[in-house]
Amino acid sequence: MTRQLRIEPDGVAIDATEHETILQAARRSGVALPYECGWGSCGSCKVTLVDGQVALIFPSAPAVNPRDARRNRILACQSRAVSDVTIARGAGDWSAPTPRCVEQQAILREVEHLAPEIRQFTFETAAPIDFRPGQYAILHLGEGLRRCYSMCNLPGSAILQFIAKRYDGGHGSNTLAALQPGARITVEVPFGTCTLRRQPGRKVFVAGGTGLAPILSMIREAAQTQLDFGSPVDVIYGARAPADLAAADMLEAAIAHVAHSRYLPVVEQAPASWPHAAGFITDAIKATVTDPAAAEFYVAGPPVMVNAVKALLRSADVPITQVHYDSFG
Ligand code: FES
Repeated sequence: MTRQLRIEPDGVAIDATEHETILQAARRSGVALPYECGWGSCGSCKVTLVDGQVALIFPSAPAVNPRDARRNRILACQSRAVSDVTIARGAGDWSAPTPRCVEQQAILREVEHLAPEIRQFTFETAAPIDFRPGQYAILHLGEGLRRCYSMCNLPGSAILQFIAKRYDGGHGSNTLAALQPGARITVEVPFGTCTLRRQPGRKVFVAGGTGLAPILSMIREAAQTQLDFGSPVDVIYGARAPADLAAADMLEAAIAHVAHSRYLPVVEQAPASWPHAAGFITDAIKATVTDPAAAEFYVAGPPVMVNAVKALLRSADVPITQVHYDSFG
């Protein structure tokens, strides 16, 4: 069954099926709505429910709060239309063009062990999927089990590659780690706005642990298209110990083709023989970037690391428009 979804202030009317969220319906139809995380944590997809009824698929989503309920504000990424619905998005909320979101079956073709508990998963879809380096997919890993993972490869084929760590007690990461080649899952792709801006200037890429994936994809894009920012490009890759820098080889290989670039690994637990920086990622940023307000930052990793980096950059008066980040948690 389909419902009519009307989006103000433009008055655009589209169809929404009973199985898709308002955000999915809009993206499938090429209608711009704001969003970032796609799973209910960031709140950037909040719209006003003007008329009609919706069902919340994740009522306890972190971004839902009682004040929003009183103001009829709903999460487009977590709401399905159960009647014809009219919503209003804020003027000027979102205007950046992005590839349309599609939902496809994907077959797991290969699992490569990069480091203890860290694997690279290669999926193949029936048709090529368009995305921008830095964006992510939502993997349907079971009933009600959806997890976000960034692509580490480049678009232009039917291949989607993800790097993921298995965590003890992590339902999603354990389910993904248990998949065997030949397994079929559904993927929704693409999501996310942490993509490479191509204007010249100082760039700093900051990757923590397996948060490396979107950074790797963006560096590969810069290498493949021979982007020259005309300024230093630093890529800081941090982890607990050297063995956790699981994709260092792939990252270094891409960095080698980017003009004015440096690879700067940093580990918290450095053995005496470690030839690079030791400490936290924030220490490495302070030691590397002498004028942070003049740089543009791309940050990806665990929420605690991303939040620490954002706090550091805020205290250094880096404008928020110069900080692009992804954080799944
Ligand atoms: Fe909906 Fe983040 S809460 S996109």
